[in-house]
Amino acid sequence: MTDDGRPSVGAALETQIAARDAAAAPPGSRPADDPPALDPPELDPDWYDAISVRRSRRRYSDRKVAAAALEALTAFTERFRLAPGARVALVADGGDVFTGLLERFGGAYGRVEGAPLTAAFVGPKDSELQIGYVGEAFVLEATRLGLGTCWVAGMFDRKSAASLVKLHRGELVFAVTPVGHPVEQKRVVERMMSTAVRSAARRQVEEIAPRLMRTSGHGHPAWPAWAVTAVEAARLAPSGANKQPWRFSMEHDALVMGHADRTGWTAPIDFGIAMLHVELGAARAGVHGAWERLEEPLVARFVPTV
Ligand SMILES: Cc1cc2nc3c(=O)[nH]c(=O)nc-3n(C[C@H](O)[C@H](O)[C@H](O)COP(=O)(O)O)c2cc1C
Repeated sequence: MTDDGRPSVGAALETQIAARDAAAAPPGSRPADDPPALDPPELDPDWYDAISVRRSRRRYSDRKVAAAALEALTAFTERFRLAPGARVALVADGGDVFTGLLERFGGAYGRVEGAPLTAAFVGPKDSELQIGYVGEAFVLEATRLGLGTCWVAGMFDRKSAASLVKLHRGELVFAVTPVGHPVEQKRVVERMMSTAVRSAARRQVEEIAPRLMRTSGHGHPAWPAWAVTAVEAARLAPSGANKQPWRFSMEHDALVMGHADRTGWTAPIDFGIAMLHVELGAARAGVHGAWERLEEPLVARFVPTV
């Protein structure tokens, strides 16, 4: 619950999705010495504003992260967790985990460099959706604090990442991000990297929500303003190789997330990221709600609470 008695949106995801997944998780996948349950995470409305500011940054200056920002990030890692155990572990340095795409050929294309901090997104097997949600909340918190980040699910060394953070039994590192002050000017390699995956490019709203109606017409009612804001917020979400695998439709009063015909291997994490963006967009338009998981080929439905 939030202070004003509304159901917390983080709690909604936690109870509606994760608890179900936890029930279905194979025995032993839950860490034996997982910390005791914490208050359900609440979303910071400022994260909505961070959505349009965030960009993946791969080169960092040696400027230190201020003590206040470090404190806020540490507090986040202690507070913001989702069952069945998705969490963020923050460590100093850790830059060695970023390998770059062509490391084995002696190059370092796409390598992340120079960040004073590294965060690892950790959880039990099959918790990709929750990892996306928790990891993106961390990324937006860092953005709010004026820091750069970059989701890295492919180009990192899993062994050194696992030794970097203290893993509980059954936990895996799904992705990592550098945290720090990016260099002012993107260097050539970083620019090439951004261009390669069309970083700034996003699919048009009409492509990710083909039946979106801003005004009513031809016998179809307009989509509610909250759903339009939510889809626009999801559109700006980061995704592996910028695939943007999410598709949206309205079903009665609910916003339904499905997926594109062709998705990349990071899609389950990408969906968790987009779910957080949907909630932040809806909340900005004054609507809170709860997620319900749907069977393939759909992902989940966001149902406003009356
Ligand atoms: C789950 C996930 C995994 C990613 N993995 C990598 C990666 O391994 N290496 C990399 O350089 N960028 C990676 N990215 C960053 C994406 O390429 C980037 O988010 C996308 O191109 C959009 O650009 P933007 O973040 O600047 O908006 C990843 C992003 C996500 C969401």
